Amino acid sequence: MNEEGLVEVRPDGSACVITLRRERKLNALSTALEGALADALDHRQVRASACVVFTGGERAFSAGADVSEMRDQDPAAILAYYRGTGAVYERVAALPKPTISAISGYCLGGGLELALATDFRVADRSATFGLPEVGIGIVPSSGGMHRLVRMLGVARAKELVLLRDRLGADEAHALGLVTEVVAEGAALDRSLELSERIAGLPPTAVAVAKQAIDYMPESSREAGLALERLAYAMLAQTADAREAAEAFTEKRSTARRRQPGPP
Ligand code: COA
Repeated sequence: MNEEGLVEVRPDGSACVITLRRERKLNALSTALEGALADALDHRQVRASACVVFTGGERAFSAGADVSEMRDQDPAAILAYYRGTGAVYERVAALPKPTISAISGYCLGGGLELALATDFRVADRSATFGLPEVGIGIVPSSGGMHRLVRMLGVARAKELVLLRDRLGADEAHALGLVTEVVAEGAALDRSLELSERIAGLPPTAVAVAKQAIDYMPESSREAGLALERLAYAMLAQTADAREAAEAFTEKRSTARRRQPGPP
């Protein structure tokens, strides 16, 4: 737990769970909360885990940027913000291991942008998604518009930013915004199950796959294919890949020896 108790970091199995704990304000992302989240990313338990799960409270994953901090910001203050705690969303996206958002309740504005910065989103049936920014005279600006366009395409991104108020978990899943929908209260447990599955995979292959996929949308087809091949060339030399290939060959030859011969 950080000093003000805004963010809790704890290990759970192979995962590290980072919990937003500003429940009284529905986890509104104040600069203090963003700062605590940034500090949490440096925690040794994050480094030691196979997967990082971000979660909030029952009522809200997060109701977005703290609206009370939005007044009277001049351009210099806004630039300083993006150099400071406003950079945390990109740091979440850049973590070299898989990340999952376990979502209950409100997941609005900056809260949704935080969830979009993670690799997977597991939502329970109470989850409500939305981007209220344009309605209050601004736009999503924590990487969310860019990620939405990459994830869903231009037309869907415009629909979510300009036309839609709130989306339930099933609709968010149908659009591709959410990885899985689970029963109310089950998002964290399901995220931990997925973390264990990831923890069972060869870690170098997991890290390289995540990074390579993240670079693909920015790459030409040729560069993307080269990235795949270079990743393969590197991974094929790892002990994990060699042992898996040997175990497969061994299993096949054992099975062949056991097959009855022709009568
Ligand atoms: N920023 C700052 N404080 C927020 C907040 C936000 N984004 N969202 C909620 N809060 C605070 C409320 O001010 C309230 O604090 P208070 O009890 O000290 O007044 C507390 O969290 C609980 O919120 P409340 O509005 O009473 O809960 P509700 O269940 O009636 O409504 C929401 C929930 C999410 C619909 C409503 O809080 C809301 O619309 N929040 C703003 C969402 C938003 O615009 N986010 C994007 C900003 S870019």
